Amino acid sequence: MGNLTVTMTDVNGVTRVIDNAEPGLSLMELAKANDVAGIMGDCGGGCACATCHVYVDAAWWDRVGAPDDIEASMLDMAENVQPRSRLGCQIKLSAELDGITVTVAP
Ligand code: FES
Repeated sequence: MGNLTVTMTDVNGVTRVIDNAEPGLSLMELAKANDVAGIMGDCGGGCACATCHVYVDAAWWDRVGAPDDIEASMLDMAENVQPRSRLGCQIKLSAELDGITVTVAP
């Protein structure tokens, strides 16, 4: 168990604070481990399914940053894409992201 805190609002609008997140896990892996509704992670984190689509809170966007080209082309095929859309499997947790807040995309 790690010591990072992540706040996630699931697809039903329920917000949870997960305060034992381990560095190195992806947001998708963390969400799956904690049964966060709406995150499927069907491709296992291979950037090939977009079932881990999240919206990054505005306050965290600069630290998380924009998707790379491969992720961006996957997001092109996703639904409900917004300016701060990212794929959760492509965001690795680290001390720099301690406290990050995201919302699961519908
Ligand atoms: S788990 Fe498939 S794209 Fe993230």
